[in-house]
Amino acid sequence: MTEIQRIAVMTSGGDCPGKNAAVRAVVRTGINKGLRIFGIRKGYEGLINGDISELFNQSVAEIVNRGGTFLGTARSKEFHTTEGQDKAIEQLRYQSIDALVVIGGNGSLSGAHVLAEKGVKVIGVPGTIDNDLWGTNTTIGFDTALNTIVEALDKLRDTASAHNRIFIVETMGKGAGWLALKAAIAGGADVVIIPEVEWKIENVVNELMKRQALNKSFSIVVVAEGAIHASDLKIKLEPLMNVNNIRISVLGYIQRGGSPSAYDRILGSSLGAAAIDYLLKGKSDIMVCMKDEKIISVPLIDVFTKTRPINLDMLMVANMIV
Ligand code: F6P
Repeated sequence: MTEIQRIAVMTSGGDCPGKNAAVRAVVRTGINKGLRIFGIRKGYEGLINGDISELFNQSVAEIVNRGGTFLGTARSKEFHTTEGQDKAIEQLRYQSIDALVVIGGNGSLSGAHVLAEKGVKVIGVPGTIDNDLWGTNTTIGFDTALNTIVEALDKLRDTASAHNRIFIVETMGKGAGWLALKAAIAGGADVVIIPEVEWKIENVVNELMKRQALNKSFSIVVVAEGAIHASDLKIKLEPLMNVNNIRISVLGYIQRGGSPSAYDRILGSSLGAAAIDYLLKGKSDIMVCMKDEKIISVPLIDVFTKTRPINLDMLMVANMIV
């Protein structure tokens, strides 16, 4: 097995708070172990274009508390082609990179697996606000995004109650409902709709009409973007409820920004350091995870081929109190 001396790190796919903490940990841990660490800018696009430069302890100073990713990120169409993948591998060879750390979500980690199958030593780190990666309890960025949504729900509750309105709040999450479900519980929403659970419009109407019958002056409905868009739900509800006091709030990209929570800084730092550790143990084609407060690893192929089921206990809590 060739000695690992030069490791490159990239952030790929949607940005999220905590990715900088993970990069910082890869750099600091690697340098502490006598390695040279290189940063790839703008994900797979930057790898294909050879946008790679060495990183030092000073390169990652003052970033642990910053959202986004100082390396930049991108969604690379070219990397989905064999030519793009071969160019990426050629760049790694040209820069004498012995191993790669990819910090990202489903798409980024399936790309990492493609490189692993072509002989690249690669470790995946789960970084996405969606929390939809199989194998890990939580993904980097989820906790901060969840708190951002809950803060928004608290603010919307003020104006909803002032005007006796029904607010439909749309969260991100791609095909997963984790952000919507946990935010609905923490934010005291009255109805939550997620893609993992079948739902009927008449049940939503009944729930909201029940609240009106109890003279509840307002309601908060949280919808995951993968289940239904807030605008579409509003169009369905208005004629069925014969009301004109429904408003929508699509939270959008604010959920991806902001200074990472302490949890995400610790999660990012722990998994970034673990990536170096696993590489030095000769591991590859795996994703490092946090599972019940322990750091473990799972095969990359499982991460994007297995679906992470929604936590039924959380669902029960939501059904009981929402
Ligand atoms: O995967 C993170 C995420 O924010 C999803 O929740 C969302 O659907 C998607 O990225 C948006 O993608 P883009 O940043 O390409 O618009």
